[in-house]
Amino acid sequence: MFGARCLLLALRPCSSAPCPKPAQAAKLRVREALGAQEVNRDIKVQGWVRSVRSQKEVLFLHINDGSSLESLQVVADPTLEHRDLTFGSAVEVQGKLVKSLHRMQNVELKAENIRVVGPCDTLMFPFKPRERQPLEYSRQFPHLRCRTNTLSSLLRVRSEATAAIHSFFKDNGYVHVHTPIITSNDCEGAGELFHVRTSNKVQEPGENSHFFNVPAFLTVSGQLHLEVMAGAFTQVFTFGPTFRAENSQSRRHLAEFYMVEAEMSFTESLQDIIQVMEDLFKTVTSIVLSKCPQDVELFHKYVSPAQKVRTDAEEQIHNWGSDLQTEHEKYLVKHCSEIPVFVVNYPYDLKPFYMRDNEDGPQRTVAAVDLLVPGIGELCGGSLREERPHFLQSRLARLGLADAYQWYLDLRQFGSAPHGGFGMGFERYLQCILGVDNIKDVIPFPRFPHSCLL
Ligand code: 4AD
Ligand code: MG
Repeated sequence: MFGARCLLLALRPCSSAPCPKPAQAAKLRVREALGAQEVNRDIKVQGWVRSVRSQKEVLFLHINDGSSLESLQVVADPTLEHRDLTFGSAVEVQGKLVKSLHRMQNVELKAENIRVVGPCDTLMFPFKPRERQPLEYSRQFPHLRCRTNTLSSLLRVRSEATAAIHSFFKDNGYVHVHTPIITSNDCEGAGELFHVRTSNKVQEPGENSHFFNVPAFLTVSGQLHLEVMAGAFTQVFTFGPTFRAENSQSRRHLAEFYMVEAEMSFTESLQDIIQVMEDLFKTVTSIVLSKCPQDVELFHKYVSPAQKVRTDAEEQIHNWGSDLQTEHEKYLVKHCSEIPVFVVNYPYDLKPFYMRDNEDGPQRTVAAVDLLVPGIGELCGGSLREERPHFLQSRLARLGLADAYQWYLDLRQFGSAPHGGFGMGFERYLQCILGVDNIKDVIPFPRFPHSCLL
């Protein structure tokens, strides 16, 4: 901004320019004010009141603007107190930033002027000062819960983790692809699809009943589109909303969630995929820890429940041919001393058509890998893809999908390379690093069966 203004002045000699205005108080975010090295200067801060404490000779406020967990202490003359200056109100405070004598904070703002921009009806407001409400309670107010410490910390972590995921892939030579949200395929073949239809009720006679001429759905995975792109860019990723019409109210399922997906060409071993999963997890987590340590600490100190060890999971899990259920996944992780576990080579019949046959028996296993983590179960799912045209052709034919997936078979005809990839559920990742029990508390506006608030 400053640079741009200088440039304008230089380009336009201003003989009739107005006299410069007296220096205005610099507008600072709370985070900037808290970290300011330079004190005894006039500043202006805007935000929401987190607490008001009126004493005989002094009025204390705490102002938060979402830029940090910590609020800025404002010290004011009690004459500045106003009927509307309450918990939850939106305010603008102007004054001098000074060194604080209080040992818990470096600086405080000595208010000269306080303007209540938007009052708050504290009786009706569902949150109260210094009260830590259970997450289930806050969930009822998706339009207001971002004003609580827990949700604002969560949303800052979510934002930093998003940026870190993009930088991880960029730094490792991946191209980001916007895969479509509306698609005509069911990548996972599980039939958990939301149909996309227009709201036009009346159809003209003879008019095709499909807007796109074919049935269309909200995507369950961008993988197939990524496979197209991996055939030209070698390493690609996508990170976007994903939709599953699973009728599950579980604490780890959403109808709309975010998935990070990567696809790598010239990959012949599951180990290569495992390595990328591991590097992604470690790199993103260490960036999040360094960017918002206080936000992460809040979860570990006050929010995460003590990990309950379940004993009812101790049942046979190597029942060949049945899929791993949540309890089995938890048992495996527990059996491995509560550390993340990679499970490889799943039964052929349980997995989608695109997974590569290991040829260890007649259609016995596929080269699939899941990453299971403590407290959550499956965090990532990936595989080598079936790149051999005849294997893929016969599997699609058996499933009656050969026509629909002709384009996918084409990819195997024109410069097919061995390839593979994986998807990581972003909300499950956040649950895992923050120890949040319910997935509905790590996304701002959760969508699940019978609930679509806002
Ligand atoms: O294991 P999934 O179904 O794998 C795929 O969709 C692959 N096509 C990904 C790929 O290889 N490109 O889903 C991947 C991850 C799961 O491990 C889980 O973390 C998350 O997505 N996930 C969900 N998260 C929240 N709510 C749901 N309903 C989820 N379903 C899957
Ligand atoms: Mg899976």
